[in-house]
Amino acid sequence: MRIDFTADLWWKNAVFYCLDVETFMDGDGDGCGDFNGLTQQVDYLANLGITCIWLMPFYPTPNRDDGYDITDYFAVDPRLGTLGDFVEFMRTASDRGLRVIIDLVVNHTSDEHPWFQAARSSPNSIYRDYYVWREQKPAEAPDSVAFPGEETSIWQHDRRARAYYLHHFYRYQPDLNIANGRVRDEIARVMGFWLHQGVSGFRVDAVPALLQVENRSEAPEFDPQAYLRELRSFMGRRAAEAMWLGEANVDPDDERQYLGGDEGDALNMLFNFVVMQAIYLSLARRSAEPLEDALRRLPKIPKDTQWANFLRNHDELTLDKLTVSQREEVFAAFGPEPQMQLYSHGLRRRLAPMLEGDQKRLRMLFSLIFSLPGTPVLLYGDEIGMGENLSLADRLAVRTPMQWTASAGGGFSSSPVSRFVRPPVDGRCGPEEVNVADQRRNPDSQLAFVSRLIRRRRETPEFGWGTWQLVESRAPSLFAHRCEWQGSTVIAVHNLGPNRATLTLDAQQLGDCEAVDDLLGERKLQPRSDGSLRITLGGYGYRWLRVRRIGQRPRF
Ligand code: NOJ
Repeated sequence: MRIDFTADLWWKNAVFYCLDVETFMDGDGDGCGDFNGLTQQVDYLANLGITCIWLMPFYPTPNRDDGYDITDYFAVDPRLGTLGDFVEFMRTASDRGLRVIIDLVVNHTSDEHPWFQAARSSPNSIYRDYYVWREQKPAEAPDSVAFPGEETSIWQHDRRARAYYLHHFYRYQPDLNIANGRVRDEIARVMGFWLHQGVSGFRVDAVPALLQVENRSEAPEFDPQAYLRELRSFMGRRAAEAMWLGEANVDPDDERQYLGGDEGDALNMLFNFVVMQAIYLSLARRSAEPLEDALRRLPKIPKDTQWANFLRNHDELTLDKLTVSQREEVFAAFGPEPQMQLYSHGLRRRLAPMLEGDQKRLRMLFSLIFSLPGTPVLLYGDEIGMGENLSLADRLAVRTPMQWTASAGGGFSSSPVSRFVRPPVDGRCGPEEVNVADQRRNPDSQLAFVSRLIRRRRETPEFGWGTWQLVESRAPSLFAHRCEWQGSTVIAVHNLGPNRATLTLDAQQLGDCEAVDDLLGERKLQPRSDGSLRITLGGYGYRWLRVRRIGQRPRF
């Protein structure tokens, strides 16, 4: 028996699940989610079939940016529990075979972090140079702010320091100066600390801003790409299996450098923002073309790196890589009201309400995201079709408490709803209509479907590991691609429109084909006598097909 080296790169065939401890499950009845509550629900996650939990920030914070404003990198926010509770959670997750990655937010701290407090208090403090200061306000590009409408500049004047400091995000999130060696040591310490607690890696926040050194010009010799490589090798020395998944919403031409260029020795994975945005345009147009174009535009990524595919994350559903008119098409289809839109380039809606709870389209989209080349990432609650709460400020609309039961508070906490850390969804796709308890009892529920799909995806490593190619089809609404891995071929076909459409695969495309296994339908399809196969999909239909080759050991 040969050793399966592929298991080492576990994230190539993983299913990630993003959640916020604060809104997942309240274990002590104070209205705020916590590690004890999450630990009680680890079996839910294990049964769902996901393989890796991504925890959003859980560190002490004034919580002005939902935890992305950190005051202590080495502790747990007391509202969420203690370090001991974190360890109990980690032990339980590991016992159930689940890995955990955590948010690494080191582009900036909170302005209440002791480092910043010391930095602004004295120019002689060693912490002064932990941040980026200018006596005069520098010129800046018009599109430099991350949250248009909320901030107008990336430089903020500090009266105490009598200087301007850099902040790519909110003004209360001063950027760290990674050109300073001490800051780099701090970052390594943070990573080392959490790796030692057993995490399997990091989701790295705001990578382009972190590595942007134009404004940190005091250290012209500092090379951010080399730094990324150094940190990667540090991480590998501390924990061989660890990986990091970067948030870098940049143009396709710039993506490869974050993965380490030809060597592939920087980030292991990147979120696939370009493809995510194209999927919504394809769906709005009922045409495969935008998605095919986006996939063609992707750079060829280095060996042993990976795309992270997602339909929705915890932020605005950004459409910033589409043109203005394309974005308008998506807005018109999925978020026509101004209150559904954010920062002029995104939607603050959840998946299910955007698609009006239409199970046909929802299931097709899940099938698509699980079959695209790469590794799928789910946002908590999307597996049941949870809704949004548009009465909440900006991105909080999609960060409401998890819906476990049909009660008004969705079973998130035993405290009165008025004391919840955040109000639940009210009405459409709220707990009464959409919850885990009801869906668990129904074998045809969305939850049951997603769970089956996850299991099938895990048994179809061709999608995560293989090389891929688009498959031509005459029907404009059909999107088809094939993945090849270790001599095995899987072809996925998705209908992005409401009408029936047919794809014909010819004998050459199928190779030495004995039969074709329909992986989601559990059927065996037989090619015709000329070796070709006709596949007809109903509106928004989907198929995953594995070619069974003559003489090949069958995979099921
Ligand atoms: C990206 C995170 O996803 C977002 O939620 C946060 O506000 C910014 N980075 C700043 O940390």
